[in-house]
Formats: sequence, structure tokens, C-alpha cells
Amino acid sequence: MHPITVRKMQFDIPTVDNFNPKWAADNIMLSYLATGTSLYVAYLEPFLVKSLRRVLDQVKDEELRENVDRFCRQEAQHYMQHERFNAAILEFGYPGLRERFDRLKGDFEHFLAAKGDKWCVGFVEGFEAYTTQSALKAFSSRLFEHPRTDKRFGALFEWHLAEEIEHRNVAFDIYQHLYGDKLFRAKLCYIAQMHIWRFTLDCMKIMSPVDTARFDDSYRVKPLDRALATVAVIPMFVKTYLPWYTPHAYSVPDNIQQLSESLTEAAESIS
Ligand SMILES: [Fe+2]
Ligand SMILES: [Fe+2]
Repeated sequence: MHPITVRKMQFDIPTVDNFNPKWAADNIMLSYLATGTSLYVAYLEPFLVKSLRRVLDQVKDEELRENVDRFCRQEAQHYMQHERFNAAILEFGYPGLRERFDRLKGDFEHFLAAKGDKWCVGFVEGFEAYTTQSALKAFSSRLFEHPRTDKRFGALFEWHLAEEIEHRNVAFDIYQHLYGDKLFRAKLCYIAQMHIWRFTLDCMKIMSPVDTARFDDSYRVKPLDRALATVAVIPMFVKTYLPWYTPHAYSVPDNIQQLSESLTEAAESIS
């Protein structure tokens, strides 16, 4: 089997009647961060696919072309599954959330229409450099296996992040192959990472007051909590700007390799 395996999965999908916003390890901050990410990728991942597909003809290396094609097919599966989960989140009744989500869609439409290929591929790499680290961190914390994590979201994120790790080199490799401009790459890493982080914090600001009123004070995220979360994530961002950064330096722990194999067995179909 190819190390970047495209899997079609079947998941148990939450509905608005049985969705609890504090679904990740009974921790509201982690839950909102992951929920914001789930909403974000619904519009980001089509952008990733379109950005790389439109430069594919310029790629002269056969192996890289196949990896880019597999990357795009994995990402297409990701956003289609997240859309199904996001329906419950969006229906849960958060005034302003749908509008913020629509504004995100407009951002990506604008990027595709107004920015050049190098900018878009740089943005893709900036996002991927962040997700690889987040994925490794999430797996080492065992967040998605936590007894108080909603198993439906846990299964979705385990699959998604395992595949992010499988294709971790692809955006970096295509950017290097086509452009190799490290300073511009660092700038786009910053732009992409700020873009998702701002969106995620905005979702938290919209959702937390509603959930606090609807449930209890354990759903409250204070400005200080958001500031501390931002401080905690900065080292992950900065690491990706360094001229010697490469995703090829990561070693993937055995348990993630085993997870990839078990996902392949559980998949409805693979290619
Ligand atoms: Fe993805
Ligand atoms: Fe990805």
C-alpha cells in the first residue's frame, strides 16, 4: 500500500440533538479549538486542493506528482467528512457563527481569484507545517482516546490527523520544487497560521458566551485563557519559519503507523 493512502471512511455523525460542545476530554478550550478547526477545514481544504491542482502541470517529478494527487484526494475526503460533522455545530444555535463561517468562505474565494500560484502554494505549506505539529502533539497527548472525548469526533480527528501525518512532506516538497524561496515561505507560514488562529479564536468568542448561558460556567473561556492558548501555540508557529525547517526531519511514532494500518483495514474503500 502507498504510504499516502486515500481512504473512504464511514463515521457515526453527531446530530444537533446529541451534540455537546464540550466534546474533547471534557475540556472546553480543547473542544473549541478542535471545533473551530473542523469548521475552518471545510473551506480551507477545497482551497488546498484547487491551489495544488492548478500548478500540477508544472511539476516535472513523477513521484511528487503522484504524491500531490494523493494529497489532494486525501484532503477532499477530509472536508467532505467535516462538513457532515459541521452541520450539527452550525445548527446548534450560535448567533453570528454562520456569518463568520461565510466570511471565511469569502476569504478563500478571494485568495484563489486574486493571489498568484506561489502565494497559494505557500499558504498551503504554511497550514500543513502547522497541522503536522498539531497532529503529532494531539496523538502524544492521547486526546482522542480520552474516556471523556466524544468517540464520534475522536474517530474523525484520529483518521484526519493520521492522514495529515502521512502527507506531511507533500506541500513542502511542491513548494521547494516550484519556488524554493524560504523568506516568502516563512511569510506565508505566518499569514496562513494567523488566518486559522484568528478564525478559531473568533469561533470561541462566539460560542463560549452562548454555551455558558445554555449550560454552565465550565463553558466560559476568558480573554486570559485565549491569551495563554496563543502564547502556547507561538513556538509551533515560529519553528516553521526557520530556514532549516523541514517536515522530513520528523520521525513518526510506531503507534501512529499502527493507527494508519488499522484505518486502512476499517476503511470502506482504499486507493
Ligand atoms: Fe486534511
Ligand atoms: Fe493536509
